[in-house]
Amino acid sequence: MQTIERAKLIRAALAAREYAYAPYSRFAVGAALLGKSGRIYTGCNVECASYAPTSCAERTALCKAVSEGERSFAAIAVVGARTDGPDDETVTSPCGVCRQMLYEFCDQAMPVIMAKSETQYVERSLGELLPLGFGPEKVR
Ligand code: THU
Repeated sequence: MQTIERAKLIRAALAAREYAYAPYSRFAVGAALLGKSGRIYTGCNVECASYAPTSCAERTALCKAVSEGERSFAAIAVVGARTDGPDDETVTSPCGVCRQMLYEFCDQAMPVIMAKSETQYVERSLGELLPLGFGPEKVR
């Protein structure tokens, strides 16, 4: 992935994080998912007083995209930070549920960019994050 494209995706994830609704965990997450059409779908985490229904930023972005007709994706950027104190330098990586949802629609080679800033990031393929995943081809 080109540096300029990656930077744009990270900026979109950082902007989306501003909308995070995370009064319980006080951990704000933003995601930006690049559709193969070229469109970027953003998402933030949305929590709930009954904690379980919480939607992670990645799934918010993915559901927005799929519900608007896009089902093929080229990359995703994820950024997370505490809202109640100093942040650390470690990146936020997608939770297991989000990895599984991404696996439903994305190639194993798809880059997952886990970033702190445009220049500070860790990049892995989806297949590296979910090796030997259970995919849709198994049950189609
Ligand atoms: N969270 C995300 O939005 N994405 C992740 O990849 C990890 C966790 C959210 C869920 C919850 O609102 C908060 O971060 C703390 O777990």
